Amino acid sequence: MTLTTRPRGTNDIGPGQIELWHKLEEKIRQVTSAYGYQELRTPIFEHTELFQRGIGEATDIVEKEMYTFLDKGKRSLTLRPEGTAPVVRAFVEGKLGAGSLPVKLYYYGPMFRYERPQAGRYRQFTQFGFEVFGSQDPLLDVEAIMLPLELYKSCGLSGFEVQINTIGCPACRPSYRQELVEYFEPQVDKLCASCRDRLHRNPMRLLDCKVESCQEVLSGAPQITRHLCEECSEHFAQVVDYLDALGVDYKLNHRLVRGFDYYTKTVFEVTSSELGAQNAIGAGGRYDGLVEELGGKPTPAVGFAVGVERLLLALQGQDKLKAEAAGPHAYLIHFGGSTKRRAAEVAYFLRSQGLWAELDYLDRSIKAQMKAANRLSSKYAMIFGEEELGRNRVILRNMRDGHEQEMDLQELEQLAKIIGECGQ
Ligand code: HAM
Repeated sequence: MTLTTRPRGTNDIGPGQIELWHKLEEKIRQVTSAYGYQELRTPIFEHTELFQRGIGEATDIVEKEMYTFLDKGKRSLTLRPEGTAPVVRAFVEGKLGAGSLPVKLYYYGPMFRYERPQAGRYRQFTQFGFEVFGSQDPLLDVEAIMLPLELYKSCGLSGFEVQINTIGCPACRPSYRQELVEYFEPQVDKLCASCRDRLHRNPMRLLDCKVESCQEVLSGAPQITRHLCEECSEHFAQVVDYLDALGVDYKLNHRLVRGFDYYTKTVFEVTSSELGAQNAIGAGGRYDGLVEELGGKPTPAVGFAVGVERLLLALQGQDKLKAEAAGPHAYLIHFGGSTKRRAAEVAYFLRSQGLWAELDYLDRSIKAQMKAANRLSSKYAMIFGEEELGRNRVILRNMRDGHEQEMDLQELEQLAKIIGECGQ
């Protein structure tokens, strides 16, 4: 039934789950501020051309996975499949590079790809990503690896692996591509349909094909190393040096190439042993040509994006980042009529003090209200009995130890203080 079923590959995130999201979002704010990043919010949709030019016409994302539509003015728009191209667009359009460099920006929000949904792969998913503009320093490539590692660790995640590679630059890639084509052509019959299709258009993408029958051919494929120009080679050596000096565990993976045309030099991916086929919990790389490609001044840049749903799946698999269900500070129990009005007044006062106050809206019995307070794990119950109200007093019951005391309703501030001190 389409009315009551969400679209394939999407998720509802409600009570029981959303607390974990909030916790993770708090960690993201902490780690980004420690690394000096500022948030940038870009539109959910952009001109289609931005992604065609930015990500590359011959990539899977642009060829098969974009949610593209014409608006009523016949403009072609696309729900963003990733955050890097939009951030670069905003950087150029807003002249964000006019001040001091580097410029460090982060983003958080939904991305859309028409992929075949499975565990950890959705059509709407969330990325936390960050991009730094204005420096070729290999230390920034390393920082783009360190920041997500800091996030993963601060959430308590273990069992992840960093893989890095360099894919060179437009100067060193053509001869490597040529060598790859020459290597693959005589064995084309052993390759899957998608590899055969890509062989001449984008031979480097063959390297990360996961199809079992291609693996034998792929394992013997030549590596880029001897094609690297001096600059790329030196850059990568420095990245590796810094990683070693900082004690970061990583694995060199010569077959890591990534599915975007914008990358130059370093690329990286972090995988989690907790997940199945979709085990990448984040990935990124350097893209020194993209700002210029999209109409800005030549500006080197590097960035990374974390898949939030996958990170949460991995954390749940390890029983980490648990969020305790918070309960109200006070549940206000009343007997209807004037006691309900007085309870409502007090509830509004407590809420104005930032305290979570609940009361009964279903005219339930006192017993049922007490049960509701327990079910919600309320810290206190306040019982608005007629006799006590006649003396302008209320019974305050500590739900943890059952201790009860009468409180003067004239001293609401004092009451709020006691209730507030219990924490949540
Ligand atoms: P990406 O590898 O396409 O890179 O995506 C980054 C992460 O987003 C993945 O490692 C994965 O965790 C998550 N992800 C991707 N697709 C899905 C999906 N369909 N369902 C659930 N999670 C998914 C980028 O998007 C680049 N813009 C990263 C970057 C930033 N490079 C430089 N700066």
